[in-house]
Amino acid sequence: MGLNKAKIIGMGSYLPEKVLSNKDLEKIVETTDEWIVTRTGMKERRIAGKNEYTSDMGAKAALKAIEDAKLSVGDIDCILVATLTPDYTFPSTACLIQKKIGAGMVPALDIQAACSGYIYGLSIAKAFVEQNIYRNVLLVASEKLSSIVNYKDRTTCVLFGDGAAASVISSSPSGFSIESISLGSDGFQADLLQLPAGGSVHPASFETVAKEMHYISMNGKELFKHAVRRMEQASKACLEKANMKETDISWLIPHQANERIIDAIAKRFQHLLKEKVYKEVVRKYGNTSASSVGIALDELKKNQKICLNETVLLTAFGAGLTWGGTILKSV
Ligand code: ACO
Repeated sequence: MGLNKAKIIGMGSYLPEKVLSNKDLEKIVETTDEWIVTRTGMKERRIAGKNEYTSDMGAKAALKAIEDAKLSVGDIDCILVATLTPDYTFPSTACLIQKKIGAGMVPALDIQAACSGYIYGLSIAKAFVEQNIYRNVLLVASEKLSSIVNYKDRTTCVLFGDGAAASVISSSPSGFSIESISLGSDGFQADLLQLPAGGSVHPASFETVAKEMHYISMNGKELFKHAVRRMEQASKACLEKANMKETDISWLIPHQANERIIDAIAKRFQHLLKEKVYKEVVRKYGNTSASSVGIALDELKKNQKICLNETVLLTAFGAGLTWGGTILKSV
């Protein structure tokens, strides 16, 4: 194992305290716990406090990741933040997190790849580290999806939750070595999932507010099909890039968007035992977009279920459309 290969050397996550259960949702929209569980596998999700923002959750996860990496904040020389719910359109949430954690005057930028943001971010961090551009890159994925969810729309409001994950990527000898990454996008399907207003097409106006255009708009059925196909494709592409076979994979962590999507992907990995496909996060926290696979990886590691030399295949899919996969090896 070359010393220069980028590795995740520390991880952390943060979930807000407030729980929004299926029973709570039954009181808000016409839905049932039974419908939500059978269609999505979700039981609960977390909701950030009124004055708790994407940057606050991200900063908390970041400090945990830096501590886990046994570094101090001053060691971080680049900050990347993956989010589709930034505190503001600008300045970037990365700059706000830089201030909140007390980092040095280091470069900080946001990445917009929706639910694939964590894996897109890893690819940038890997390139920075392996090209010796930065030594210790902090990657944060944080989402306050409750700020863009329409709690009158039962087809979307049951699906999403808030939370953050963070990782420190460096070239230390041990950690999760980033063996391969495969990314893709399809802008031809951009209208399947979007936040219609607030950008240059439909700047905020009385009309955009009246038409409820500042909330998530989604074609769930179509996305379901794309999600399964693209995550399978990304997973197999990064296996090929790493010169690995399906049987070399110890754990599979698909984007935690819907348990049925996860199960459909798992079926395409015939040699992987069901219990090696992680889906605890979707059950407890719903779809946390960019944060989802990062939270799942952190949880899996903290529960000490990943042994030395085991491999984890992460795959994600989201608005754009965007998708990605990465293979990590515990070394
Ligand atoms: N409670 C009760 N009934 C509901 C609810 C609800 N919360 N939501 C929809 N229904 C109804 C519908 O109105 C429909 O009723 P109808 O047949 O009378 O018209 C019925 O349930 C079935 O609706 P479908 O949309 O066909 O349900 P489906 O089985 O496709 O499940 C779901 C919907 C859960 C959204 C699914 O399509 C899905 O998960 N899609 C992927 C969505 C996703 O993952 N998006 C994000 C990906 S990218 C990212 O993570 C940002």
